[in-house]
Formats: sequence, C-alpha cells, structure tokens
Amino acid sequence: MKKSNILPASELVRQREYIARMRAENDRFFAESGVRRRAYVLTFGCQQNEADSEKLSGLSIAMGYELTGAPEDADLIVVNTCAIREHAEQKALSIVGQYKHLKAKKPSLVICVAGCMVAQEHRRNDIKFRYPYVDFIFGTASLHRFPELLVEKLATGKRLYCPEETEYLVAEEQPIYRESDYRAWVSVMYGCNNFCSYCIVPYVRGRERSREKEEIVKEVRELVLRGYRDITLLGQNVNSYAKDAAFGYDFADLLSELDAIEGDFLLRFMTSHPKDASRKLIDVMASSRHIAHQFHLPVQSGSDRILGLMNRRYDVARYLDIVDYMREKMPDVTLTSDIIVGFPGETEEDFEGTISILERVRFDMLYSFIYSPRKGTPAAEMEQVPADVKSARFERLLTVQNAIGLEKNQALLGKPMRVLCDGESKKNANLYSARTEGNKIAFFEGVPEDTGKFVNFVADRADAFALYGKKIQ
Ligand code: 5AD
Ligand code: SF4
Repeated sequence: MKKSNILPASELVRQREYIARMRAENDRFFAESGVRRRAYVLTFGCQQNEADSEKLSGLSIAMGYELTGAPEDADLIVVNTCAIREHAEQKALSIVGQYKHLKAKKPSLVICVAGCMVAQEHRRNDIKFRYPYVDFIFGTASLHRFPELLVEKLATGKRLYCPEETEYLVAEEQPIYRESDYRAWVSVMYGCNNFCSYCIVPYVRGRERSREKEEIVKEVRELVLRGYRDITLLGQNVNSYAKDAAFGYDFADLLSELDAIEGDFLLRFMTSHPKDASRKLIDVMASSRHIAHQFHLPVQSGSDRILGLMNRRYDVARYLDIVDYMREKMPDVTLTSDIIVGFPGETEEDFEGTISILERVRFDMLYSFIYSPRKGTPAAEMEQVPADVKSARFERLLTVQNAIGLEKNQALLGKPMRVLCDGESKKNANLYSARTEGNKIAFFEGVPEDTGKFVNFVADRADAFALYGKKIQ
C-alpha cells in the first residue's frame, strides 16, 4: 500500500485548537480596546505562492485578525517568499530589512517569514543571524502550522524555527481568503519530481503530491456556484497530476470531470511540463466547453544539448510535435512559454537554437529569464556564462519576441472576442483592463459594473503585450 500523502485529520484538529486560542485572544483584545488586530500578508513569486498566501490570509482571519494593506498598521506581518532566482530572494530580504523600523516603533509587532526562500538551510541561517527581529519562520511544508507557531511565539516570547522540512503532505480544508470574487486559484498538486538541473523548486517544495479528484471537483463546483468566472488549476508540474498516486485517473480525466460542471466559467491550468503534455490532454481541451484554449508550455531552450544538461527529458522535435498537434486541434490556441538565457555552457550555436524555436513556434508571449545560479542545484556547479554575454543574449531574445508578439496581437484586430473585466486599469488612466480567453490583456473604456463580468470586445490597436479596443454588443 502506498503511504497516504494527506495530512492526518488529527493534525488539522490540533491546528484548529491553536486557531481557536488565537481567536479568543484577539476577540478579547477587540472587546477591551475596540480595535481589531491587523495582519499584513506580502507575497513574492509565482501563482502557487499567491495561492498559499490566500491560505495564510484565511488562517489570519480565522485567528481573529483583520487584513490590512499597510504594513505600518499591522500587528502581524507575514512575508511569503520565493527562491526561484537570486533577485526574488534579494527583494524579500530587503523588505524584511525595512520592517526592522516598524518593530522598533511597535515592539508587539510579530514578523514571520514563510515560503520557498526559508525552506533553504542557508537562508534560514541568514534570517536567524542577520534579522534577529524576525519572530518565526516556516517553509512550504509547514504552512498549516502557522497558527501553532504564532501561538507558541506569543506564549513563550522565543524566536521559532520550524525544523528542517522533510515531510510534505496535502492539507485539505484550510480556510482560504480569496483576493478576487471572480478569479480563483485552485492548487491541484504540490511539489515537483523533475529536478531540472537549474531549479530550486524540488528542494523547497518537496515531492509531487496530488489532491484527490473529489476534493478538487467539490472546490471548483462551489466556486462556480459562488459566481467565479475564471478558475486556474495550479501545480508546479500540473499535467503530471495524479502520477504520484494510485488514483486510477490522470490530469486529462480531472479536466474532463471539471468541464462537466454547469455554469459560465473558464478553466485554465499551469504550469505544464512538455514531457507530460499528452495528446489525450490536448483532445480533452479541444472538445471541452470550459477549458480556455490557452497553453503555457515552458520550453526553456531550443538546443537539444542544453535541454539534456537541463535534465528536461524532451528534445526540440518532441516539443514541436506537441505544438503542431495542439495547433491542429485548436487553431486558435494562445501559446506561451518560459525561456532561460545563459544556462551554463550555452554557446552561440545553442542560443541560435533558442532563437530558431521562437521563430518556428511564434509564441504569443514569452517569460524570459537570465539564468541565476541556485545554491545546491547541479547547474550552479557547472561552468557559468559571463554576465555580459547573458545580458546581450537576453536583449536579442526580447527584440525577436517583441516583433513576434506584436504580429500575433495584430492578427487579432477586428475579431470580436469575450473578455473578463478586471476593473479600472492601474497602468492606463481612464481605461478598464480585462483578459481574453488566451489570457492576453485587453484595454477599453468601461464602467464599474463591468468588473468581474464577461464583456464583448473588439481590438483596434495592439502592441506586443496588450490589445486596445472597445466594448461591443
Ligand atoms: N534561473 C533563471 N530562471 C529560472 N527558472 C527556474 N529556475 C531558474 C533559474 N535558476 C525559470 C524557468 C521556469 C520559471 C518559473 O522560472 O524558466 O519555468
Ligand atoms: Fe513559486 Fe518556485 Fe518561487 Fe517557490 S521558488 S515561489 S514555487 S516560483
């Protein structure tokens, strides 16, 4: 028998006791002072981290805190960190550094640092020695223990460090505070087994573990009933869903079942690995009612030699085969990808391979990254490409992609489409922003009532990153 990957119910009950204790304490404070204690949750990194933060916020509310968007007003600060690149870690450390002054002004302030960065031993030590005003830290495996750590910290006054995390389990039935009431994230699996040689994720998020289909269907059905319009299934390696368990179904089966739910909503998923992108999955998408014709499929490099060094387990030919099949079944599919530039040992010829795949596939959008060595990963020990070469290649990649992205967007001009409105744009004054089925950004003149609704739209102008146009009937 396979060992269960589900957190035992007794552990959830134990955490609920801590939640109740904290709630009682915060309610007492409210009764005496007339003010609610406030929590501020700050998130770095990917969508998975955003989803985790919605749980940290949900737990904070359950413990009797009110959420605030201003760290200076907070009694509890939670920084949910990312470790994917050096830059993400430096940003988080710099923010934590700024909170020193807040703690000096308000000694009762509790500061905790969570997430991927502090799942690494050396970063835990950094926090321990260089940021002594941080009260407790916990990595991704201990997220459900947040109430316990908070109560312990307040009871003992001691700084707390969750022990090194080895057991990564699925915690169901956690309170979730959803930032939006029309777009939702649903984690369907956690962790990663791939060990791409550049990537820190398997070390900070543990092995793959999938939620059971029934739990996911229940969650999505409830979201649809509550009026959610755009639901994204999340996993570090989402299309290998269920491969870790003997469930007897796979990701395509999960999608089919979710597609059968009645309602007006779109389903998306990310992030997929090309080695697990099956024809069955593409067939399910193509014949579905709710699954957006959008696929984010990171290729990382267009050189077979580099793909081998990256331990990606596919080659360019296999990648192109998936893309061709996808376009045959869904000619309107929006295709996006991730590229790493300057992976150790990347030659000019390897880089030309990457440019060629861009020109061959013509992605709608690209998330491109300069390779950043991650301590403890195999690629960090390989011979590095000089920084100036990396940035010159990066610039060239952007130039090539910007031209392609612009042409792809221009091809959509004049074509009516349905977009989901996100309200007033923060970037473009007087305009409302929305997302197309392909998840492209669309701007138009809207009204407050459009927010959270599907709107018919047609574009009359485009740049490489967005469409501009108007609402139509
Ligand atoms: N350096 C640069 N980019 C990275 N990514 C993952 N690890 C690294 C790294 N060490 C990129 C990959 C991945 C995306 C989420 O981040 O392209 O798909
Ligand atoms: Fe997300 Fe990976 Fe960053 Fe963690 S390290 S927040 S999993 S991108």
